[in-house]
Amino acid sequence: MSTALHAAAHADVSSAFPLVRTAHPVSEIERAAVLAAPGFGQYFTDHMASAVWTPEAGWHDRGVSALKPFSLHPGAAVLHYAQEIFEGLKAYRHADGSVWLFRPEVNARRFARSARRMGLPPLPEEDFLASVEALVRADEAWVPVSTGEESLYLRPFMFAAEISLGMRPSRSVQYCAIASPAQPFFGSVMRGLTLWVSTSYTRAARGGTGAAKCGGNYGASLAAQADAQRHGCDQVLYLDGAGEEGCIEESGAMNLFLVTSGGELITPAALGTILEGVTRDTVLALASEFGLKAVERPVTFAELREGIAEGTVTEVFAAGTAAVLTPVSGIKGEGYELRVGDGTSGQRTAALRARVLDIQYGRAEDPYGWMRRVV
Ligand code: COI
Repeated sequence: MSTALHAAAHADVSSAFPLVRTAHPVSEIERAAVLAAPGFGQYFTDHMASAVWTPEAGWHDRGVSALKPFSLHPGAAVLHYAQEIFEGLKAYRHADGSVWLFRPEVNARRFARSARRMGLPPLPEEDFLASVEALVRADEAWVPVSTGEESLYLRPFMFAAEISLGMRPSRSVQYCAIASPAQPFFGSVMRGLTLWVSTSYTRAARGGTGAAKCGGNYGASLAAQADAQRHGCDQVLYLDGAGEEGCIEESGAMNLFLVTSGGELITPAALGTILEGVTRDTVLALASEFGLKAVERPVTFAELREGIAEGTVTEVFAAGTAAVLTPVSGIKGEGYELRVGDGTSGQRTAALRARVLDIQYGRAEDPYGWMRRVV
């Protein structure tokens, strides 16, 4: 099916979030200056989408309006018990000026799963899609004309707004989506990351919140990240509770992949302790295009370490919405340091990365029906 037909098949649901345009948009000159070098997560657009939930009224007050601060009572439950979840997805401008989202329904479904895990009311998929589409339409001028990999990063989130220190699910919930023009998370794309194998911190345990995209998981990762940096590394490689005797998990803000000399593309199985990444799923789907066999299974740390040392693990990379695909050039732990391959990006990593970006930016056909046109 052609890309245009896919786009036509999606109903226009944006009217569910009516727009009240801001009277004070950022000036064109200021916006152009931001778009020239947006960085990641530093600047925000003119509008935000929002909705409110109560048990009595369900989801209501949907709309898109001027970006503005929340007024939060110090007793708001989120400030005490971190009942909060979020998502991350991007809007891409194609060469013809049109603007597209990449698999937003997968984010919508994960948002609902995260909500259930955190005792929050799931936002219906159609509301999630309508809110991000309405926001992108309102702030279309903020979607960068991409010279490389710039995009408009969308950050839907939800939090417990009830004023209560009672330990129970909030009876007042705020949903919001904001947008931020973005360059890739790690800036210079093909510089390989080094990962610190943490034996001091774990990210999640079975039955915990590891698969939920909740703020607490990210807040808790900051000490581990600082530890990695103290050891001269860029990011953390999390192991499961069994430490170096156990399995590898993920890298906090990204899922991990191994390419083997036997032609396998291996990623740790999603057994409830890692985030089920949209890019992870995309890469698994694309593997066969590159003659790779996609494998999801537990991966022991010993297998990774020995595989790198012996050369049977030829490439390692990290994948996430913000990070896209980023090569891992080395891993380091207490008393050892290993270089992956020759320490530069492997060919499979580069090819998969280019394939994902070509689909996202409309430089290649989209045989999977992943793109959703917004403008
Ligand atoms: C994303 O990749 O969208 C994330 O949410 C990770 C975040 C640390 C930027």
